[in-house]
Amino acid sequence: MQGRDKLCAKLTSAFLRKWWFVLASAVILLLLGIVIAIFLGTWIRLFIDHELVLRPGSMTFEWWARPPVRPFVKVYVYNVTNADEFLNNGSKPILDELGPYVYSEEWEKINITDNENGTLSFHYKRTYTFQPEMSNGMDDDAVVVPNIPMLSATSQSKHAARFLRLAMASIMDILKIKPFVEVSVGQLLWGYEDPLLKLAKDVVPKEQKLPYEEFGLFYGKNGTSPDVVTMFTGATDMTRYGIVDRYNMRDRLPHWTTDQCNSVAGSDGSIFPPHITANDTLRVYDKDLCRLLPLRYLETVESSAGVEGYRFTPPEDVFANDEHNKCFCPAGPPCAPDGLFNVSLCQYDSPIMLSFPHFYLADPSLREAVEGISPPVAEKHRLYIDVQPEMGIAMRARARIQINLAVSQVLDIKQVANFPDIVFPILWFEEGIDELPEQVSSLLRLATRVPGVARAALAGGLCALGAALVLLAVTCLIRSSHRQSTLRLEAHVVAKPPPPKTPSKESAYELNSRR
Ligand SMILES: *[C@@H]1O[C@H](CO)[C@@H](O)[C@H](O)[C@H]1NC(C)=O
Ligand SMILES: *[C@@H]1O[C@H](CO)[C@@H](O)[C@H](O)[C@H]1NC(C)=O
Ligand SMILES: *[C@@H]1O[C@H](CO)[C@@H](O)[C@H](O)[C@H]1NC(C)=O
Ligand SMILES: *[C@@H]1O[C@H](CO)[C@@H](O)[C@H](O)[C@H]1NC(C)=O
Ligand SMILES: *[C@@H]1O[C@H](CO)[C@@H](O)[C@H](O)[C@H]1NC(C)=O
Ligand SMILES: *[C@@H]1O[C@H](CO)[C@@H](O)[C@H](O)[C@H]1NC(C)=O
Ligand SMILES: *[C@@H]1O[C@H](CO)[C@@H](O)[C@H](O)[C@H]1NC(C)=O
Repeated sequence: MQGRDKLCAKLTSAFLRKWWFVLASAVILLLLGIVIAIFLGTWIRLFIDHELVLRPGSMTFEWWARPPVRPFVKVYVYNVTNADEFLNNGSKPILDELGPYVYSEEWEKINITDNENGTLSFHYKRTYTFQPEMSNGMDDDAVVVPNIPMLSATSQSKHAARFLRLAMASIMDILKIKPFVEVSVGQLLWGYEDPLLKLAKDVVPKEQKLPYEEFGLFYGKNGTSPDVVTMFTGATDMTRYGIVDRYNMRDRLPHWTTDQCNSVAGSDGSIFPPHITANDTLRVYDKDLCRLLPLRYLETVESSAGVEGYRFTPPEDVFANDEHNKCFCPAGPPCAPDGLFNVSLCQYDSPIMLSFPHFYLADPSLREAVEGISPPVAEKHRLYIDVQPEMGIAMRARARIQINLAVSQVLDIKQVANFPDIVFPILWFEEGIDELPEQVSSLLRLATRVPGVARAALAGGLCALGAALVLLAVTCLIRSSHRQSTLRLEAHVVAKPPPPKTPSKESAYELNSRR
């Protein structure tokens, strides 16, 4: 009791002479606490949005233009070990999965132009370097794979005039072209001179000409891409942050039957519109995939740097042969079987089909048509991206795709007469980033944890302080008014002039005299 009296005395004597002032400040603190509890989240969102916008010179811009990450691509090649038996005796192809052959990547965006309308235009530059110590084998390992240019030509000639097919057979005879080739892994990826493409370059009319005479599945990817990409910076609309506006000046693909399927309005997989919820569908556009890839929430994960993220992965029916994929099948029906995506229109009409590795999520009969591919396992063969939901930054990614060749049997061409209708797997690869550098991770950690903590601390602290002050002020006010009335009463009874001091002064006096 005495302690509280003293505290009251101190508060009143020192700088807060009027109880009502204490009460008012306390109420203001309380209100401030409540306002912060309600609005701090919004303010932090606005601040994050402001910082994320890709403004030339800002930190986010520098990270976007030259990502401080070490991406890698791991390639697994299916080596055909029984090519002769397959062709001569009709046995199932026996494949031997080799690899991984690991290439590190360096990403850069060059010739960045600010269009002054909330978009930037630029070119991707990617540099690949073989990493022998991370690989299982060297990139000059010889492998036997289907002759993709030849089988593309023969499969395409299926509906051409018969004499053309016969002519093709004799040209292939002269050039000694076989349905399987033995090349090194490096050649299969980065290109080797192909006699058929070389010939095509010389004879085919200019407008149908293939742009190159070498063939490689990653041909032309090492270096600066010729494609101009226009992307939203978030300056005008944060909901389109990092989304492609135009690809090579076009905002739609020409290949498919509906506007929705022709859209290129997706992220490139590195940044997404921020404030992602588990209900959102993310969309990634990749030129080689030839469409937007939808991604849905799978689970909440934590990166090894301790940042919480959402794992997004394509829905199971993404490549299903169903109603909502009909737009990707302009020539059908029949359309590609479940789990295959026909990209031939994007690949100069060669019958390339994409799927997930080991035919994950695909019709099992595709995997059973060959030997040597183990059953798919979601953890090893699923494509996923882990994003930090508040800032929309990809923290970890595994873009896993298998390249297959859909061969059609053509009886008139004797070299391939025994090559049955089959979806022949060629290779699969995994492109990924494992971890962001520590500086980015710590910023993300800050961005995820600080808002909650700051809000709780600030709002809680202010409210607690306000409540304590209200309590104190009210107690002191009651006490002093009680004392005042007692004093007045005394004055009447004793008939002495009451002390002209306010209770506060009196208390102060008492306190001072006691010291
Ligand atoms: C690939 O298979 C062929 C046989 O078809 C074999 O000669 C070759 O050594 C294999 N390549 C590797 C790297 O194992
Ligand atoms: C093809 O099959 C026949 C009989 O089934 C067998 O004798 C022959 O060795 C096989 N050829 C090859 C290349 O395996
Ligand atoms: C980039 O810009 C430079 C100079 O402005 C130009 O010479 C070069 O051709 C451009 N590169 C590409 C790929 O457009
Ligand atoms: C922004 O400007 C560029 C270049 O002028 C143009 O290609 C693009 O379509 C514009 N984008 C929007 C959203 O206006
Ligand atoms: C990619 O290009 C760079 C520089 O042009 C070169 O050093 C590197 O060997 C190339 N990588 C591959 C896999 O060809
Ligand atoms: C997500 O969607 C489900 C059902 O559509 C709904 O019940 C839930 O409230 C949504 N959650 C958020 C965070 O929007
Ligand atoms: C793939 O698409 C092309 C072009 O639309 C079409 O001609 C071909 O028949 C399709 N292949 C399959 C197996 O559906």
